[in-house]
Amino acid sequence: MHQDIIDGLLQPVARISPKYFYDQCGSELFEAITRLPEYYPTRTERTLLKERAHDIAQAVGAVRTVIEPGAGNGEKGRVLCGILQPTHFVGVDISTEILQEGMARLRQEQPTVDARAVTADLTNHLELPEDIPFAHRLVFYPGSSIGNFDPPQALEWLRRARTWIDNTGGLLIGIDLPKELAVLEAAYDDAAGVTARFNRNVLAHVNRLIGSDFDASQWSHRAFFNTKASRIEMHLEADRGQLVRWPGGRREFAQGERIHTENSYKYPLPAFSAMLREAGFTRARWWTDERHWFALIHAQP
Ligand code: TRP
Repeated sequence: MHQDIIDGLLQPVARISPKYFYDQCGSELFEAITRLPEYYPTRTERTLLKERAHDIAQAVGAVRTVIEPGAGNGEKGRVLCGILQPTHFVGVDISTEILQEGMARLRQEQPTVDARAVTADLTNHLELPEDIPFAHRLVFYPGSSIGNFDPPQALEWLRRARTWIDNTGGLLIGIDLPKELAVLEAAYDDAAGVTARFNRNVLAHVNRLIGSDFDASQWSHRAFFNTKASRIEMHLEADRGQLVRWPGGRREFAQGERIHTENSYKYPLPAFSAMLREAGFTRARWWTDERHWFALIHAQP
């Protein structure tokens, strides 16, 4: 873990993997982001899920187990369980505490659901509990999380998700669609500065992990849409020149130099369908809101 962070900091263009956003504080800030007026994806997806619940349940068919990678506080999972009534739910996340609370709440609110928390870093292999039935699984991947991978990794992720299910299973995935620039950029650079705090918090987390001495107050949040790559990019930009040290290493940052912290790709539906087909999902149905800002897709092998 440490070496991975240090390698990133020493790249010609420094980068920190977005997985380090999610310490306790980062996970709480992320929840706050999902409630911001500018951050439309969570709200749009939730409305879609609720308003089209009947259609979705019908398309998805019988589901015994829902597997949600990146389940977070389990809020979306609980909504989906209310709609699909599975017997098992497996929430997977890197942030243990929040996930366990969420799964406990799911068991309490829906006692017929056997809800399990699996702590895992999703960039590695996913180990599911052995007694989870293989047939009739649904992999639930909401929130346009797939957009945080580069396209080759997104394809690899879809291929891997395909191995978690058999022919009776499926994938229910949320993707954020390309749209007006101002709407996109405001969603990642809100007026209250919550996303800025979230982005800067990664430096405090990295300090704790590798013993570095980043001064988060010396870094500004930058978020913009890269039209050519169809992605929002998030960076931290040095307010002035500075030296950052950690045991065994250091890096000089010039004023204005950036650390790339995350991308959020926005896929047009046809491009995403093509990727699904390449990953072995040949059938797909999708639902979108009136403004065509966000899509929920049900894909099957
Ligand atoms: N996957 C979502 C998105 O890209 C949520 C998300 C991940 C996010 N990292 C983020 C939102 C950083 C804001 C800032 O939109």
